[in-house]
Amino acid sequence: MRIAVVGSGTMGHGIAEVAAMAGMEVKLIDISWDILNRAKERMLDSLKRLHERGTIRETPDTVMSRIEMSVSYDVAKDVDFAIEAVPEILDLKRKVFQELDRVVPKESILATNTSSIPISDIGEITSRKEKVIGMHFFNPPPLMKLVEIIPSKYTSEDVTRSTVELAKKMGKTPVRLRVEVPGFVSNRIFLRLLQEACREVESGEATIEEVDSSARNKLKLPMGIFELADYVGLDVVVDLWKVIVERGASDVKCSSYKEKVDRKELGVKTGKGFYTYPAPGKYSKVSLPAESKVPPERIISLAVNEGAWLIENNIVNAEEIDTVMRLGFNFPKGLLEIADELGLDKILNALREINSRGYEAYSPSPLLVKMVSQGQTGKSSGRGFYTYGKT
Ligand code: CAA
Repeated sequence: MRIAVVGSGTMGHGIAEVAAMAGMEVKLIDISWDILNRAKERMLDSLKRLHERGTIRETPDTVMSRIEMSVSYDVAKDVDFAIEAVPEILDLKRKVFQELDRVVPKESILATNTSSIPISDIGEITSRKEKVIGMHFFNPPPLMKLVEIIPSKYTSEDVTRSTVELAKKMGKTPVRLRVEVPGFVSNRIFLRLLQEACREVESGEATIEEVDSSARNKLKLPMGIFELADYVGLDVVVDLWKVIVERGASDVKCSSYKEKVDRKELGVKTGKGFYTYPAPGKYSKVSLPAESKVPPERIISLAVNEGAWLIENNIVNAEEIDTVMRLGFNFPKGLLEIADELGLDKILNALREINSRGYEAYSPSPLLVKMVSQGQTGKSSGRGFYTYGKT
């Protein structure tokens, strides 16, 4: 299997590494040798760590020998599959897809790792829109097991099936959306976590550290919400927020993320965001207070409401949402499983309380209201998003 990966930044180099680890022949394309050499170092560093931990048996050099780097698209002339991972600028994607469409064999699939641009818009740039699909990886790709598969309204069923298979061959767990929605599942839910975290702070109810302490210590998430925003990149956060809201999702007033971006404090990549990191590009876990007054159900309330919306609209089911959050964000349990444990009545009360203060985005979803009114309040009642047996 031959794969081209275009763009060797945070996501691109990780995707190339994952494909090579799975035994595929990889062509990694970028615009300059400086960028490609930096990507080579990052792949080697990551492969060394994986080798030392015993996650991979092959030596880093053996894996690297399957990756050919180039500043020319010509290396993609015989690939079976191409994955684009360049910055989220439609004009840039347009150029990349025109090139790929020209060079890559006509029967091959073109995938995009975009986290926010509609797949249909990207497909329309090419002469093979039925062969264009979203393949959304998570940072860092070598560690995160999830790949969201997003067929556009043009993508053929065969192409979707082949992409699901490719993700599995890469050692990933695919979650396929039935219908494309802006932000897919992952970033719609991520946006809601970001919005509530921001509301907590900007309304004066909690500090950044308290929100993150509650996320890490009470919900047992691997990172706090602001810490994760720093890790993803605050420019990426602001972009995905804008795209999802512009395309119809409700907004929550918030200036914290944008102010950071205006100050060029983009998070881990620049060494400073909400927290300070050892060096640009170098993440280390942030220190947080052990105690926090922020109730965990409030932090996830808006995200759970979004989950209910996704189910109501038949985009994915509860299990799929939970797979996305466990394997894409390393949640210890699924979001809806956590909600069931905390109590859907408590989640609904949190939403209603914030909604009553004029925050429209917190208007409870009809599904959640119905569940609670029927006594399906989660694990303690035997039924919530899941059904529980008697213990
Ligand atoms: N390659 C190989 N190994 C890596 C690595 C990489 N890129 N990054 C970290 N590791 C290894 C470390 O070397 C360390 O190994 P040992 O245990 O052997 O020492 C191990 O992973 C744990 O790393 P750390 O000690 O640095 O820190 P940690 O325990 O906090 O784990 C983390 C780091 C895995 C990233 C974890 O914090 C986590 O899961 N965070 C959530 C990440 C997340 O949510 N990602 C999704 C973001 S959203 C997105 O990507 C999509 C979008 O469109 C925005």
